[in-house]
Order: sequence, then structure tokens, then C-alpha cells
Amino acid sequence: MIVSPSLLAADFSRLGEETEKVRSADWLHLDVMDGVFVPNISFGPAVIKSIRPESKLVFDVHLMVERPLGMIKAIAEAGADIIAVHAECKDDLGALIREIKACGKLPAIALKPATEVSKIAKYLPELYMAMVMTVEPGFGGQEMLTDKLYKVREIKKLREDILVELDGGVNDDTLSLAGASGADVLVAGTAIFKAENPEEEIRLFAQL
Ligand code: DX5
Ligand code: ZN
Repeated sequence: MIVSPSLLAADFSRLGEETEKVRSADWLHLDVMDGVFVPNISFGPAVIKSIRPESKLVFDVHLMVERPLGMIKAIAEAGADIIAVHAECKDDLGALIREIKACGKLPAIALKPATEVSKIAKYLPELYMAMVMTVEPGFGGQEMLTDKLYKVREIKKLREDILVELDGGVNDDTLSLAGASGADVLVAGTAIFKAENPEEEIRLFAQL
């Protein structure tokens, strides 16, 4: 299992040290929020750029942004490797995928809990990854909506070799469900950053 700790649960006053804490993971999940698409604001390209030299992990950027098109270039230049936009955003998904690829980055699309897989079916051949959200986007530390896990297999049925990432409420209690869902990548914020031993937690998820 690929493990992508979400920096949203880190102590923002010490981002360098927090990034160091999760160095044994594979990816680093970076939640960008605009206060419009979701009722919260997190950080943007400037913060991503400043932590880029602190980490060797793959930067897995999740844009919870209503109009991401104008932001892709800055996110790419800040050091993103994978850029996920939301299926429900207001920009054209085809144009977003083209822009992400033009910036030399790997495109992904994220689904809010209420959005069905059919909405992104035609884009799957062009994507590096699809993201299934198991909480309403906006905040960390919520409980996993386990009735959304079926989407992982639905995506795999349409395209077997695409990566599927699960985001939201992955912790020690939901670990076995997440592992059995068919997902390739697990995002975990609270469970890793608030753990006494984040490295141990990463190892636990990675074994799935
Ligand atoms: C929610 C974010 C998630 C969040 C996950 O809007 O997209 O990535 O950080 O946090 P936990 O793991 O605490 O549910
Ligand atoms: Zn996220």
C-alpha cells in the first residue's frame, strides 16, 4: 500500500519538522482549500514551495478549489508531482487534465462522497489516479463514510491499472476496511500526525 500522510493534520507552526516526521512514507498529501469549494482555507503554492526542499516524498496535491485552472501552473512550479482536481469544480475537467499534463505533472480527479464514478468514467483513460473521498472535503479528523468504499472497485472495473486513492477517516479502526477496499493509496492525516509514533503508524498502513 502506498501511504500518503496528509499535512493538514500537522502543526503548521513547525512544518519542516512535521515533514521530517513522515519521511518513511511514500507520498505527502497536500490539501489546498480555497474557502469557496469547501468552508475552510488551508495553504497554497507558497507553502508547498517552502516545504519542497525539506522532503524527498512524492508531492500528492489535492485541490479543493472551485476554479483550479488558473492555479495549476503555480502548484506545478511549487513542486507538485501529482495534481488532483475535483470532479465537482467549475472548470472543464478535460481542460484541467490537459493543463496538468502540459505542466509535466500527473493528473488525478477526486470525487466528493455524493458524486458517482460515472461522472469521471470518460476521463479515466487519461488519469494517473482517481481519488475516492470518504469524508466531506474541508476538514481532517472526520469519521469515514464506509458506504462510499464501493467506488474503488467501480473505478477498477472501468480501468484495472489506474491508481485509486482513499481520502478521509483512515485510522486504526478503519484500517482493515480501507485495506480490503481495493485502494492502492491511503491518505491519513490525524491517524499519522497525531500518533505517538508516526513511523509505526505508517508501517502499519504500508503493510496492508
Ligand atoms: C479533507 C482532506 C483530507 C484530510 C484527511 O478535506 O482532503 O486529506 O486531511 O484527514 P483525516 O485523515 O484526518 O481524515
Ligand atoms: Zn485530501
